[in-house]
Amino acid sequence: MPYDTTGKVSLDHIYTQADPRAYFTTLREFEYCIPQLAAPYFADLIRQRQTRLGRTVRVLDVGCSYGINAALLNGGATMDELYEWYTDPIVGAMDREEVLARDRKRFADGQSRARIVGFDSSRPALDYAYASGLLDETVCADLETGDLTESQRARLSGTDLVISTGCIGYVGARTITRLATVDGDHRPWMAHFVLRMVPFDPIEECLRAMGYDIELVDGVFRQRRFVSDEERDQVLDTLHSRGIDPRGLEDTGWLYAQLRVCRPPGSAGSTPAADGVAGQHQPRG
Ligand SMILES: C[S@@+](CC[C@H](N)C(=O)[O-])C[C@H]1O[C@@H](n2cnc3c(N)ncnc32)[C@H](O)[C@@H]1O
Repeated sequence: MPYDTTGKVSLDHIYTQADPRAYFTTLREFEYCIPQLAAPYFADLIRQRQTRLGRTVRVLDVGCSYGINAALLNGGATMDELYEWYTDPIVGAMDREEVLARDRKRFADGQSRARIVGFDSSRPALDYAYASGLLDETVCADLETGDLTESQRARLSGTDLVISTGCIGYVGARTITRLATVDGDHRPWMAHFVLRMVPFDPIEECLRAMGYDIELVDGVFRQRRFVSDEERDQVLDTLHSRGIDPRGLEDTGWLYAQLRVCRPPGSAGSTPAADGVAGQHQPRG
């Protein structure tokens, strides 16, 4: 299996399929759960923004893939339900159009919390998520190497809250800076769940230079199990080399993330809380 520079396995092939079946079949095995743990925090931030703005909040999901966070926030689904839904043997025998029709029906009645625009470098994932009704708009771009077109800028304009799970590391300061500055002086709030071994400093420095306040929210959040002993050993080495203590966390067999909330100048807000889902995150100590 190929590994990235942090020692983490590269699962790139499942991000570019025509539909989400390979994604959920593969990640179920490793109990990928960060979108589930993130959802109540995102929901709280959407509530805070809505109270302040008095209108529907415009969310941008960076690295949205097949609209996973949208399925949880707007589609009324849980990760467990999505794993069941996409790995059902009946679905394995369907073609893409049949899977899509089934999804459209399922997500048609979702209680929409926010308007969600999906941003990703994978065109097939975005096309599927848009067609299924989970995303209101999409932008396909790789801002680590390129720039936004005028039409993409227009679609990103007016974003109130940028969210991400499992994406920082694939995208870094270059992407986040471009997303923060799409709109002149209108700067969005941001909430990123970031693996502990992935340095957030370069992003933090750029955002601070724009006047952002960065809050590291208490607690650590399971992302997924290690794929193999080899991956675990490599990630533990990376953590040690960065002076991060893995005891009680990664050395128990799981990758862990932390939540950073980034607020632009002049915006008051409270630390997001996971209302009614106590026990879903694991405070340290
Ligand atoms: C681990 S997946 C996370 C997907 C989803 N947020 C979740 O938690 O289930 C990482 C996503 O980042 C996307 N990605 C990788 N490099 C990217 C880039 N340079 N710009 C935008 N998206 C990128 C991939 O296509 C993939 O959909």
